Amino acid sequence: MTRITRRTLGTLLVGSLPVLTRRAALATGPAPERRDLKIGLIGAGQVGGTLAGLWVAAGYHVMLSARSEDEAREAAARLGPSASAGTPAQAAAYGDVVVLAVPFRAIPSLGQQLSGVVKGKILLDPSNFYSFRDGAIAATAAQDGAGPTTSRYFPGARVVRAFNSIDMSVLRSEARRAAPLLAVPVAGDDPAAVSTVADLVRAAGFDPVITGNLASSVLFQPGGPGFEVRANAAELRSTLGIR
Ligand SMILES: NC(=O)c1ccc[n+]([C@@H]2O[C@H](COP(=O)([O-])OP(=O)(O)OC[C@H]3O[C@@H](n4cnc5c(N)ncnc54)[C@H](OP(=O)(O)O)[C@@H]3O)[C@@H](O)[C@H]2O)c1
Repeated sequence: MTRITRRTLGTLLVGSLPVLTRRAALATGPAPERRDLKIGLIGAGQVGGTLAGLWVAAGYHVMLSARSEDEAREAAARLGPSASAGTPAQAAAYGDVVVLAVPFRAIPSLGQQLSGVVKGKILLDPSNFYSFRDGAIAATAAQDGAGPTTSRYFPGARVVRAFNSIDMSVLRSEARRAAPLLAVPVAGDDPAAVSTVADLVRAAGFDPVITGNLASSVLFQPGGPGFEVRANAAELRSTLGIR
């Protein structure tokens, strides 16, 4: 695993769900101008299912996908009429925001399949890399950073890293908790894409902490000081040494 030193930090920094009542969803749902934003998810497992559920509760429409269409259909059926299921290509075409909720080893082949469709779109990447599961690409991601590695396979996509640093069981239990909200770190090179993802973090019931450019996402990838940190925004900023 990559060890993140304070010096590295300095360089980088430049640049089943809780039952949500309709009232809670309305109170914290998307801003009116964002209501039409659609979310396509590649992956319908723990991460895909959890994030889709939180966003559906906030008033968004989602499409879930996986290689197994049954898995995607079942995950969508659990979420009601605002969720649909399709193939990864259909979900990528559907989403204004496309989420890569897959093991990191799937990213090269998904890039080959989907990069044309995703070009220009916001590509939210919550995936992590583990050598025991993902093989050689885990070493590349540890060395170059997961965000820049994903970007390489999706040229022209507006890649933002978020939601990778917190276990989904924690995300499900802590969504919309009493103040202070749980912090979710966010990093990306495109300010408008980062802002949209920060809105999605808020809509899901968390407090976004923007760490900086995409390279700064090493701060909260496996091996980084912000990985698996359960903290509010002030505590997380202090842990990461950012303002
Ligand atoms: N679980 C957590 O708490 C957590 C938290 C933060 C980050 N993460 C990271 O998020 C990612 C997803 O984790 P997860 O826990 O959701 O895994 P998971 O429950 O095993 O789900 C993975 C999903 O990806 C799909 N998938 C795999 N390969 C694919 C491909 N080539 N094309 C399309 N879909 C594919 C799988 O369905 P098919 O096999 O049918 O395609 C499945 O729906 C991983 O990188 C993980 O390390 C997990």
